[in-house]
Amino acid sequence: MSYFFGLVGYPAAHSRSPWIHNHFLDQQQKQGIYRVFETPPDEFASTLKAMRTLQIDGFNVTVPYKERILSFLDEVDPYAKMIGAVNTVHLENGKWIGYNTDGKGFIRSFKESYPRHSFSEMKVLCIGAGGAAKGIYRALVEENTPSVDIANRSQQRAQEMLDLKSSETNTSILTLEEAEEKMSEYDMIVQTTSVGMAPNDKESILSLTHVHPDAVVCDIVYRPMETAFLKEAKERGAHVLYGHGMLLYQAALSYEIWTSSVLKAELLLEKFEQQLK
Ligand code: ATR
Repeated sequence: MSYFFGLVGYPAAHSRSPWIHNHFLDQQQKQGIYRVFETPPDEFASTLKAMRTLQIDGFNVTVPYKERILSFLDEVDPYAKMIGAVNTVHLENGKWIGYNTDGKGFIRSFKESYPRHSFSEMKVLCIGAGGAAKGIYRALVEENTPSVDIANRSQQRAQEMLDLKSSETNTSILTLEEAEEKMSEYDMIVQTTSVGMAPNDKESILSLTHVHPDAVVCDIVYRPMETAFLKEAKERGAHVLYGHGMLLYQAALSYEIWTSSVLKAELLLEKFEQQLK
């Protein structure tokens, strides 16, 4: 059998997902292709129709469609439904089923790099309140993290994330300025916005002046690998987690859904890192 996978997004032409999935297929000696459907917003519906006709086995969904895709699906698994965002679609018995692997991909990336850290003992700051933030926040809640504060430019959007809370997790909503002041309290800080990605983004979303030197500072932006945010974290003596690990592991979880197999994605991490440099 030969698999047909893809990605729908805009922009998406420079995505590293084809590279990753081709290596996964190779690792398992499976046949298949992974095609990028770079689709402007007014062509989204017609592209999806074509993908239905092509009977694509599975596809990823990236910016700006992770929420818009929901109304085109036949079913959404409970976890993705709760988050309100889908990054993975699988054709199952002729139906498109939506999943979200972003948050779990982040957790896996963190655990691979920091195996001795336990989420159940951490005070975490999540910066951002978009689709990626929601997936990561919910995954942290499910890891029984006792305290996860959210800092976002729009306070209202951050408030909406409280729907994803459980009674075991304490969460305060902060302005970006308040988070800067409280920074020394956090064991882990995760930057989930796209700030730092544009070539002229020399500025970080907030300053890490008060970061604790034992803290782990994470950025989900993976190009550039070392964002201004992570550069500052390093200069202040903190530990860092780059964003490419999350990209790799969310892709691995998608691939595992599509093929009902288990990958050794960690074997690809170093090669992927070299590829990005
Ligand atoms: P994604 O699905 O990739 O997470 P998104 O849903 O558009 O993208 O969310 C973008 C996040 O980045 C939001 O938290 C947004 O803050 P607001 O909710 O206040 O809009 C944040 N963001 C984007 N650009 C920003 C900027 N220049 N300064 C501060 N926050 C920014």
